[in-house]
Amino acid sequence: MEHRRVLVEYYDKRTPEFDRIYEIPERQKDIATLKDLVRKIFAGHDVLDVACGTGYWAEVISQSAKSVTGIDINSAPMDEARKRTYGCPISFRVGDAFEMQLPAKERFTAAFASGWWSHIPKSELKTFLLKLHRALQPHALVVFCDNIFVDGLGGPASTPISRRDAEGNTWQKRKVSSGETFEIIKNFPTKEEVEQLLAGVAVEIRWTALQYFWLLEYRVK
Ligand SMILES: C[S@@+](CC[C@H](N)C(=O)[O-])C[C@H]1O[C@@H](n2cnc3c(N)ncnc32)[C@H](O)[C@@H]1O
Repeated sequence: MEHRRVLVEYYDKRTPEFDRIYEIPERQKDIATLKDLVRKIFAGHDVLDVACGTGYWAEVISQSAKSVTGIDINSAPMDEARKRTYGCPISFRVGDAFEMQLPAKERFTAAFASGWWSHIPKSELKTFLLKLHRALQPHALVVFCDNIFVDGLGGPASTPISRRDAEGNTWQKRKVSSGETFEIIKNFPTKEEVEQLLAGVAVEIRWTALQYFWLLEYRVK
């Protein structure tokens, strides 16, 4: 699918500058809150970090987890991830999050994905979630974390929405430092939308909204 190919290429080319998003001064309070939450949530778990990128969150998770397995379609960000220091056993593998073909013996007690939900077309979300759940142990813990759209009033704005397509996905034009521009899906779901999608497949749903990020926790039903 073309939109998936563009997303992969965009993140491959953005790798050298990716971690700058974690240095934005206005976001530091939220990031510190997220780090505390993530460490608490994953204590003692075998965690699958989906679309792990440069391993920013894998490092945080590893400070309390039993093990972390990062999966990303691009090897360039994972080469960066391998340079970090981790607090528990960790492995990285190149793989497509939409395929999630993991051996059964590796069933994880928890999954995490940061900055990934927003890139999944609305029509593909349910299929993605069901596939993810099948890679996990029964009643596994699942956590997603992603951006809230910020309109710029009183702070730095999100990249503007370039268009909204027929199924309601929002798109943004993103420029990498080489000057190349990519148009990618970037959705900003509401708590209600997420709850509706999870109805029947998740329990103990908890939604936390900060200023720049939301965090969703649930257990697979
Ligand atoms: C917004 S980044 C998030 C990286 C990391 N989770 C973080 O929050 O710092 C999205 C990541 O998704 C990866 N990606 C894109 N398409 C993918 C796919 N089909 N399967 C797995 N990873 C994919 C990109 O390579 C990129 O590292």
